[in-house]
Amino acid sequence: MPLQKIERVLVIGAGAMGRGIAQWLAQQNVTVTIMDQHLKLAQSACDSINASWQALLAKQKITATQMEQWRPLVTAIADLSEIKATPQLCLEAIIEDLGHKQELFKKLHARFGDDCHYASNTSSLSLAQLATVLPQSSRGQFFGMHFFNPAPIMKLVELVQVEQTAAQTQLLVNLKGWLEARAKVAVICRDRPGLIVNRLARNYYGEAMRLATPYDQKSYALIDKIMTHIAAHPMGPFALMDFIGLDVNLSATKSVWQQCYHPARLAPHFLQEQLVQALHLGKKSDQGFYHYPLGAPAVDLIAPSRHAEHLKHVAIVVNSANHPLWAMREKLAERHHVFEYRDLEDLQRLMTSTSFDWIVDATVLAIKDKHPLLQFLHPKAARGMLCEPCGESIPFLRQLYPNIRAFSASALVSSNNTWEACLSDHQHAPDAMAILAEIAGSIGNQVLVHFGDHLIVPAIIAMLVNEAHHAKVEGLCREEEMDLALRYGTNYPRGPWQWQDLMGAEVFYYQLLNRALVTHDERYAPHTTLRQAAHVAAYKQITQRGLA
Ligand code: NAI
Repeated sequence: MPLQKIERVLVIGAGAMGRGIAQWLAQQNVTVTIMDQHLKLAQSACDSINASWQALLAKQKITATQMEQWRPLVTAIADLSEIKATPQLCLEAIIEDLGHKQELFKKLHARFGDDCHYASNTSSLSLAQLATVLPQSSRGQFFGMHFFNPAPIMKLVELVQVEQTAAQTQLLVNLKGWLEARAKVAVICRDRPGLIVNRLARNYYGEAMRLATPYDQKSYALIDKIMTHIAAHPMGPFALMDFIGLDVNLSATKSVWQQCYHPARLAPHFLQEQLVQALHLGKKSDQGFYHYPLGAPAVDLIAPSRHAEHLKHVAIVVNSANHPLWAMREKLAERHHVFEYRDLEDLQRLMTSTSFDWIVDATVLAIKDKHPLLQFLHPKAARGMLCEPCGESIPFLRQLYPNIRAFSASALVSSNNTWEACLSDHQHAPDAMAILAEIAGSIGNQVLVHFGDHLIVPAIIAMLVNEAHHAKVEGLCREEEMDLALRYGTNYPRGPWQWQDLMGAEVFYYQLLNRALVTHDERYAPHTTLRQAAHVAAYKQITQRGLA
């Protein structure tokens, strides 16, 4: 049965999600009945929707006429017997429990049969398993409809295809159109663990916890600051986990990890578990990663300025995988010695000078090529070096090559054209900063510096990109859908495929390959398709060069 028009919806569950969805539907002039196992809760949902409209009216975001028009559209009931007209859609938003939800769908189907469509707002349960309580003939009318909190504000709706039939595909395409005509962003995906956002966002948190020093608020705050100020995310991972609730976040992590059969890359972290056990659940318990109301402690990122006098006799080594610098290499060559790296032998032939004040190694390479290059460059740097670590351990590089003063992630420019750089040594910081500022500035970017052992942005973004490759091969959805979902479900500035298009797959591939090699941790193993994309990009560069 096609879902031609949506005029009457039964929303079951009067929690945050049920209320929010009901409010948004009424604002689309849909008649909404809210049903909860406790009538009081359904009634209080109507009251809170009205209160929310009053607040919007006071802020002049809606008109009194709109409010008066919407108010009678929302009513509360406690039992299905009170429903007079069959709704076109029953949208379930009750507690996240398989047994409860299946029981409910059985009752709904017994009451409305095939005259109605059925959808679940579940974040983590298998929709195919939920559907088993419906007769086979009705399963084409059952799908996932996953809103985000707060539903009236968050634009994204994930529509989950459960039956692989042309009829269900058409049903969801129609529904997508209906939602988009009402200013939502709807993405169609398959029934896979965590769907799009809850799956792909896992390592925004998981990798951040692995990079942080446990129980060190300054370390959390630094990562949050880097992800907001450099990667342009609206909230850092620790502040966001505190906002969502550590218990909610941990259970989403465990659920996706378990359903994917425990891959290392999606594993929960002990810190999450310990904080939840200690009832440090985030803002709602006044304590999570941070203590509230204080929140994150102050930490600084330094924006260095350019001092031309420091910049004499600087060599910059760059290869095609480092797009921003590669693209600007001719401009950089006006002021500095620029060497295009093809292979070590070639560089040894070109770089005959034995001493430069500073050497900037901006190459994106595999470890097996990076170390011989650093061994060659290191003795030639009289005052210091800057290096693109490509996922290699920074403390380890520092031990091997003490001349390296700063580590940049110049291959990864954020959406606000800001680079992250990590300084290892306070003593030579002014010179290193001046060079970073000069190079970034010469291509219209700025650099923000911190002291420490890790570059944060590339470590986290590479994990998000890799997960997108896994999810694509599993048939979750198309690349565009993943990008849209992360932009509108979490307000990320860019989706994973947009990162890959912009920076090139090689950057993420080498980041992960090198980390997998140095840590022996399979969580960093790059997906085969990421490897293929990186090799295709490199091959194209070589053939273009050959033709030029
Ligand atoms: P909640 O726990 O705040 O509210 C659930 C409501 O369902 C309660 O009012 C409860 O009385 C009612 N209920 C439980 N069993 C019932 C039954 N058999 N019949 C009628 N009412 C029943 O839950 P929340 O947070 O609103 O989430 C609801 C659903 O939405 C869950 O499946 C959750 O995974 C999903 N979701 C939650 C999001 C969130 O941020 N809270 C975001 C997106 C999806």
